[in-house]
Amino acid sequence: MTGSLLARFLLRRSPPPQSQFIFQRGISQSAAERTKDNVAAEPPVLPPFDYVPPSYSGPSGDHVLAKRREYLSPSIMHFYKSPLNIVEGKKQYLFDENGRRYVDAFGGIATVCCGHCHPDVVSAIVDQTKKLQHSTVLYLNHAVADFAEALAGKLPGDLKVAFFTNSGTEANELAMMIARLYTGCHDIISIRNSYHGNAGGTMGATAQSIWKFNVVQSGVHHAVNPDPYRGLFGSDGAKYARDVQEIINFGTSGNVAAFISEAIQGVGGIVELVTDRELKTPAKVETLHVMDQMKELGVLIGKGGYYGNVFRITPPLCFSKEDADFVVDAMDYTLSRM
Ligand SMILES: Cc1ncc(COP(=O)(O)O)c(C=O)c1O
Repeated sequence: MTGSLLARFLLRRSPPPQSQFIFQRGISQSAAERTKDNVAAEPPVLPPFDYVPPSYSGPSGDHVLAKRREYLSPSIMHFYKSPLNIVEGKKQYLFDENGRRYVDAFGGIATVCCGHCHPDVVSAIVDQTKKLQHSTVLYLNHAVADFAEALAGKLPGDLKVAFFTNSGTEANELAMMIARLYTGCHDIISIRNSYHGNAGGTMGATAQSIWKFNVVQSGVHHAVNPDPYRGLFGSDGAKYARDVQEIINFGTSGNVAAFISEAIQGVGGIVELVTDRELKTPAKVETLHVMDQMKELGVLIGKGGYYGNVFRITPPLCFSKEDADFVVDAMDYTLSRM
């Protein structure tokens, strides 16, 4: 990577386990440690994949975009300067309208954890849909009970009862409701910079202004985010814990229904890109630029963070070591040319 760029474009913070590969591959190295020899001359090439999609004859991306603008809510946004028209998916890869293949390093977030169009998943869906497409819990059917039993067999401890919902928002709404009913308390403690969903209760628990509307959101108190990089108390865990206790003591009746926290703040982001190490200036424009360039190389990643300066890399489980190496090479190649 060229020194001048790297000096400006710094990847900071202690690497969490899932981003070790980025650091190991040298993106966080200081400019002085890098030499011209490290810079790859040729763009990296996607790992081979034994599948060619049938040619696509549906509407073009421009057509779809125009239709979305006319018939869908303007709140729906899209990634990339030139939006992608994705028409097919297979395992860890997606194909656009021109048959171009991309490695999906983003879609593994809940929706395609076992990859796109996994044949076992597809055939289970097709088989069930042919027999019975929808029913109500007021009638019996073995499928949902079998699934709950199978899940219980894999979960630890007392986690033996399932309550199925359609989304993360619904799951968290339900969890908050159950906690409030069970404890008889209304107050819930959440953490700043968190994201828990966008319905009434979960928007209250969410603590980023960009994901909140100005509507009544009662009974959630937001504790200081224990963030070693930007957090008020740095890495002093005891101080963050004391903040939670103070909220309970001085902001509630002394009892709370629940404490809700993500294990890792996915939307809030954990490894920031900054353009100035001292000022911690968010590299917002640069993050968008890298995403666009990576797309051109055949890699799809997401972005997040309150300042829009965090990459969200959440590949499906069938992502291989070759894919991971390719993604890192593509990022290295992109950063070295900025
Ligand atoms: C941590 C977390 N909780 C809840 C949600 C909401 O899930 P959904 O979009 O399925 O409603 C998300 C979605 O990104 C999330 O990241």
